[in-house]
Amino acid sequence: MTQAETSFDWIVLGAGPGGYVCALRGAQLGKRVALVEKRPTLGGTCLNVGCIPSKALLHSTEVLTAARDHGSHHGIGGTIEVQLDQLMQHKDEVVAKLVGGVRQLVDGRGITVFTGEGALAGDGEVLVRGEEGELRLRAEAVILATGSRSVELPFLPFDGETILSSDEAIALEAIPEKMVVIGAGAIGLEMGSVWQRLGAEVDVVEFLPRIAAGFDPEISKVAERIFKKQGLRFHKSTKVTGASHGKKGRVVLTAEGPKGEDLSFEADKVLVSVGRAPVSDGLGLEEVGVELDEKKRVKTDGHFRTSVAGVYAIGDLIAGPMLAHKAEEEGVALAEQLAGQAGHVNYFAIPNVIYTDPEIAAVGYGAEAAKEAGHEIRTGRFPIAANGRALATDATEGIVLVHADASTDRLLGVEIVSRNASEMIASAVAHIEYGGSAEDLARTVHAHPTLSEAVKEAALAVDGRALHSL
Ligand code: NAI
Repeated sequence: MTQAETSFDWIVLGAGPGGYVCALRGAQLGKRVALVEKRPTLGGTCLNVGCIPSKALLHSTEVLTAARDHGSHHGIGGTIEVQLDQLMQHKDEVVAKLVGGVRQLVDGRGITVFTGEGALAGDGEVLVRGEEGELRLRAEAVILATGSRSVELPFLPFDGETILSSDEAIALEAIPEKMVVIGAGAIGLEMGSVWQRLGAEVDVVEFLPRIAAGFDPEISKVAERIFKKQGLRFHKSTKVTGASHGKKGRVVLTAEGPKGEDLSFEADKVLVSVGRAPVSDGLGLEEVGVELDEKKRVKTDGHFRTSVAGVYAIGDLIAGPMLAHKAEEEGVALAEQLAGQAGHVNYFAIPNVIYTDPEIAAVGYGAEAAKEAGHEIRTGRFPIAANGRALATDATEGIVLVHADASTDRLLGVEIVSRNASEMIASAVAHIEYGGSAEDLARTVHAHPTLSEAVKEAALAVDGRALHSL
């Protein structure tokens, strides 16, 4: 390899949504970019073992429940069987197609990909250790985008067989009879739903007094009632304290319930989904002086600069929500800043979604956060059951909340529990992005019949003028 081939304008470490998008934007802006990735495929956690495969599994199991549980009143019936290997194959095909697509984009923009583990070696150098040995790359800017990994519980280390992280929970070869999910956040609710729909008995153990704790309590309550009806069993304010071997290869978890009582759960598979931690080890950060915070995230200023000149960081590796679209926006903003433009991320307008059925989606403040930020708020509510499209499509469960500032009417937040909430939230994100009011949202024409009309109605309800509810 010649000098020119190891010398770049930028080196990006990690080819997840943060890293590969940053590389693509850099290449668009005329930079010579190297992308270093340890996986054989691009796309990172999100495309390979996270967002995309889980969405494929959620969709497959929605097809199942639509036919099996709701088919009869449409005159659709018969024996429905699940072929798990086929379902997994479909998921794998989706992933393969998408990671192949990213590779095409990256190659098409002239980005050089190095497969191997990259680490900072000081003075703009990166050492890549791959199957073919070591390689030293150089650049004026090194961008760290190495993402995050699942957090273990100290007394319950992942073994990939019985004690699972989401990486394995998307690839089981048989449907477990009994599954315990620890943590009722995004991963726990999504993967718990997948396996419950497929026939597993799923117990979800949550440390906090409510599920989906990233959303307002009202949203948690609505969502819990719906998921319970679907068959998920929740054990809130419950702390798993230990594990031992049970019969038939099962594991027995001991836990402390809400009143301090002893509980135990037997499971074939345990999914531990109690959060993710940044991948900041093994990157040579300490050696070159890149500072970390108390959660081992790379410390950055408002412009993604680390404590070492020429080294930048984005995505799950730094503070903020661990979301693919947040990482992407940071990748674009950083690329533009490095190219002399004014890249910017509006953190207030980052939507948060859990892709259950119904989905849970929110942007801006919840009611509690708005009050904490000093706002007096007015909240409009609209039940999804009052929406015509919902009635026609078996999607009547859920609610929309619109929070506005009581004196200025500025839109402060929108929270949705509804089928397609992940799509419905987009109009609210746009209004928040432009600094719109609840009145702006209420006067925006939404196509009829759509679930999105419920968002408009909830905005009307802020002013007590919802048309389709009393
Ligand atoms: P999470 O932070 O969303 O939820 C973890 C839950 O586990 C919390 O409710 C927490 O109270 C609970 N918990 C923590 N320790 C516990 C313990 N010892 N016993 C019982 N409960 C305990 O984390 P999750 O679901 O693992 O997701 C990790 C990250 O990935 C999050 O930042 C999430 O936003 C992101 N993600 C986002 C997705 C999406 O946007 N749809 C999908 C999957 C992950």
